[in-house]
Amino acid sequence: MNRREFIKGTLAISAASFFSPTILIDGGNRAMAKENLSWWQKKSVYQIYPKSFLDTTGSGTGDLRGVIKKLDYIASLGVGAIWLTPFFPSPMVDNGYDISNYTDIDPRFGTMADFEELVAQADKRGIKIVVDLVFNHSSDKNQWFLESKSSKTNPKADWYIWRDEKTNWRSIFGGSAWEFCEERGQYYLHTFATAQPDLNWENPEVRQALYDAANFWLDKGAGGFRIDAIVYIKKPSEFKDGIVDSEDGLSSIHNITAACDGILDYLREFKEKVFVGRDIFTVAEANGVKPENLSEWVGKTGVFDMLFEFSHVNIMFNRGVEIWHRARLYKLSEWKKALSESQIATANSWYPIYFENHDRPRSVNTFFPSGSDKKLAAKALATILFTLRGTPFIYQGEELGFENAKFNSIDDYDDISTRGNYDLARADGLSDKQAMKFVHRFSRDNARTPMQWDSSKNAGFTSGKAWLPVHDDFKACNVEIQEKNPDSVLNFYRKLSALRNSSEVLISGEYEELYPENEELYIFTRTLGDKKLMTIVNFTTHEVKMPITGGKKIIGNYSDEKNYLRPTEAIIYEF
Ligand code: NOJ
Repeated sequence: MNRREFIKGTLAISAASFFSPTILIDGGNRAMAKENLSWWQKKSVYQIYPKSFLDTTGSGTGDLRGVIKKLDYIASLGVGAIWLTPFFPSPMVDNGYDISNYTDIDPRFGTMADFEELVAQADKRGIKIVVDLVFNHSSDKNQWFLESKSSKTNPKADWYIWRDEKTNWRSIFGGSAWEFCEERGQYYLHTFATAQPDLNWENPEVRQALYDAANFWLDKGAGGFRIDAIVYIKKPSEFKDGIVDSEDGLSSIHNITAACDGILDYLREFKEKVFVGRDIFTVAEANGVKPENLSEWVGKTGVFDMLFEFSHVNIMFNRGVEIWHRARLYKLSEWKKALSESQIATANSWYPIYFENHDRPRSVNTFFPSGSDKKLAAKALATILFTLRGTPFIYQGEELGFENAKFNSIDDYDDISTRGNYDLARADGLSDKQAMKFVHRFSRDNARTPMQWDSSKNAGFTSGKAWLPVHDDFKACNVEIQEKNPDSVLNFYRKLSALRNSSEVLISGEYEELYPENEELYIFTRTLGDKKLMTIVNFTTHEVKMPITGGKKIIGNYSDEKNYLRPTEAIIYEF
């Protein structure tokens, strides 16, 4: 009987009695020595959506000076980098992911001098600034596109993807992925919004222009890149209709263009021209890369340092296609399996641990049953975030346990994908009320409501009119209140972050999941030499028998200890 079978077959056993020291050898699922790790592996990353972080001008929109102002707060979370979502000039159709100039700052967010000051001030606190590269598409107001669409013979005619005929591909935000351009008399392809035409990576001039833009930000002192939607840059060799998957008669472009053959040739060139020889990290957004292909994508043998894959956050959607009203129920064991598979697949490289970002609803609403205490749930997820193997990514507000917002009407939502998903639900026959249920559950605006700094007007986010309403719980949930409460979610994050930053086992140790079929608890261990830590989280709203005993509790989201797990309880044990 192997060790795992022994654990499974036992209800309450002493862990110390069977946990044997792990022998470390090279290769396979093995721990890495801390001294061989890079700076970005030893600390967490804090993600900022500048538009919603802090407004210093009264415009209602957050800005770079707001980030500078809060650097001490960010440093208090023990992070080594800040990932800023796009701050480049943009018509803001997709809140900055539609870039009209890759090497400048949108005046809404400030100036280049502000960016330079941010880099310098962050550096003083040991924090690097990570820039978001949006290279699959630009804005339709980008000079490149304006030239490209002007005629079939202009010098940039081939910088975007133009065709005389369209296919039945549905863009990720809904509706056809093709838009007819009168000026040019042809259709252009847009994987996302109509205002986000896809760049043509087949053209070496396009690739070089993008590499130049990336190098521009490195020369400005950027410490790394988050790379947007990278799986879509290579299109299939043949453009043909896909299988219709909805009442709108279209076929999801994701299933057709994600991670097409040949994409790695471009990515290797990208690495060569931009990343090689720089002390930076790269994390690419990659929905659809299979675990078996990871070694070609990440780590020494791959292109990027880390990949944001979607298996655990999209567990409720089939084949990664986010049609919200088709969300399915999933079991805890499936979610754990997704995380474990990613942990195992990156055992020889690195993994970006995340539960939230600007595209996801708030994690306490997503991953815990509706009746759970949300602040306990926030701490439970934090416990997992800081104890899985990889770099933890904290998204603004997550460290306060922010919850989903709920606006009354679809007209109150700003996010373009929310409107696309709502329209698709209506086209599929759902009533407004039914469609709104999914909007409340999945809208990206859930994560984009302004940061809640204090109990004053607009939660201290702006002196003007906030571009998106502040969550109505701001008087009870904000930084000022949580700073003062030693038991707050914020202070729990700080403790966990300090624990991870100083723990060789948490940084480097090997991951192993226990009881994978258990539908109530997530239990895993991290092992380095003879040191072992165990995370145990109760995902239910009831008490659950403790399956393992014998460890010493080092931290948990309940202050005392029982010999069973209380609702939403999370504990880290040392053995
Ligand atoms: C992924 C980004 O995270 C998201 O916010 C954006 O809408 C799409 N890519 C398109 O750039």
